[in-house]
Amino acid sequence: MNTNRLSKTMSDGLNSQMTKEAAAAQIYLSYGAWADSEGYGGIANFLFRHASEERNHMMKFLEYILKRGAKVKVEAIPAPPQDPTDIQDCFEKVFQSEIDNTNAIYKLVKISFDEGDWATWHFLQWFVKEQTEEETLAMNLLDKIKIAGGKNASGDVLYELDRDLEKAPDEASLAETKTAENP
Ligand code: FEO
Repeated sequence: MNTNRLSKTMSDGLNSQMTKEAAAAQIYLSYGAWADSEGYGGIANFLFRHASEERNHMMKFLEYILKRGAKVKVEAIPAPPQDPTDIQDCFEKVFQSEIDNTNAIYKLVKISFDEGDWATWHFLQWFVKEQTEEETLAMNLLDKIKIAGGKNASGDVLYELDRDLEKAPDEASLAETKTAENP
């Protein structure tokens, strides 16, 4: 008896997303190494923590594919892009890579919706929320850098940002968790 509960399109899509999450981890890893070598230890730490988060996302896809009785295909991870030119460029690239990932997740949500695969649709909702958080986090960081002078930000301001990011929370708070008492 065939116990595979995923369609071919769905399992191919989930497998390629698993590799995409691994690729996101490599991007954070390589930007973290770049930031550290530029002297930004706090930013590097922040990026390394995110590399681990992306690896966890990869594992969630792997576990889900297995749980639904489909085949996991571990494939080569594309190399990360070139090093950023400066801190602003670094976070712009991080933001863009999160948007690309969000779009890939949305495509999977659409497939699950069209197929009436509600188990996968439900599984993917966690990622929809996670991507909103990650985009918000990257947006907030870009705002901070812009206020600090963008590409012309002074060494002092970058020093402070570096120190803040060492301990910054890894999650952004979302609009849906806000109340009138806690705006
Ligand atoms: Fe796993 Fe940042 O997406």
